[in-house]
Amino acid sequence: MAIGIFDSGLGGLTVLDALTARLPGQDFVYLGDTAHAPYGMRPAAEIYDLTVAGVQRLFDEGCGLVILACNTASAVALHDLQVNWLDPAAHRVLGVFVPVIEHLTRRDWGDNSPPTHTGLRDVALFATPATVGSGAFPRELRFRARDVRVEAQACTGLVEAIESGDLGRAREVAAAHVATLRTRLPVPQSAVLGCTHYPLVEAAFRAALPPETTLVSQPELIAASLGDYLKRHKGFAGGSGAVRYLTTGDPARVGAHAGIFMGRALAFESAAAA
Ligand code: DGL
Repeated sequence: MAIGIFDSGLGGLTVLDALTARLPGQDFVYLGDTAHAPYGMRPAAEIYDLTVAGVQRLFDEGCGLVILACNTASAVALHDLQVNWLDPAAHRVLGVFVPVIEHLTRRDWGDNSPPTHTGLRDVALFATPATVGSGAFPRELRFRARDVRVEAQACTGLVEAIESGDLGRAREVAAAHVATLRTRLPVPQSAVLGCTHYPLVEAAFRAALPPETTLVSQPELIAASLGDYLKRHKGFAGGSGAVRYLTTGDPARVGAHAGIFMGRALAFESAAAA
């Protein structure tokens, strides 16, 4: 059975790359909602409606499990979607926050004991305005880790630059946001690229951060977490390593922009056509 990967646009490709490397025999269907990207500037109700529509589109492709490879959708829509819309007996939807929080705090998600000293002192979060505005990331961290400081930087303009295929501009915007955050937190202990688009310009973030800062790679953590999940839920796994790429935007344009950032051509299909 194919696993669905949903993002507002190109960002989820960073997650998909890590997933195909770790699970080479697994089928995937990728859906980028390019027609409505960026999500990060939209109100919560719109993000919820667009996320539900995208997830339903992947269920219609036969996916039993969908990964919300989008921090904005995971932060803003996932909880409501699971409580008010999803039938867990028929389908499952997983977000991308849990593996990062578990990694940083070295605690299982299900561990509801009081916050402990985890060794985590200060964290820089780079994310979309909607993700930062949701407060979900610092809330989940502080629920588990005592005395942790989170400095969040809403990286306006970065997803727009990436979706328009402008690599040079994207690098400049990323470096400018790191410089702004460093006026508040000069040497973060850890930095999280909390938007799946941002690893597409990871080198620009790395270059602008001090060498002491550990950059957390969300795609690798998600891939490890999904590999573990599939061992426990074998019914969602299977296939022969086939990957399809769907977009709600113009397939030729999206494929060309994906090629700029991924370094290889990707054949996108129209999500409307199937
Ligand atoms: N890539 C998504 C995320 O991880 C959303 C970016 C956007 O559409 O603003 O947050």
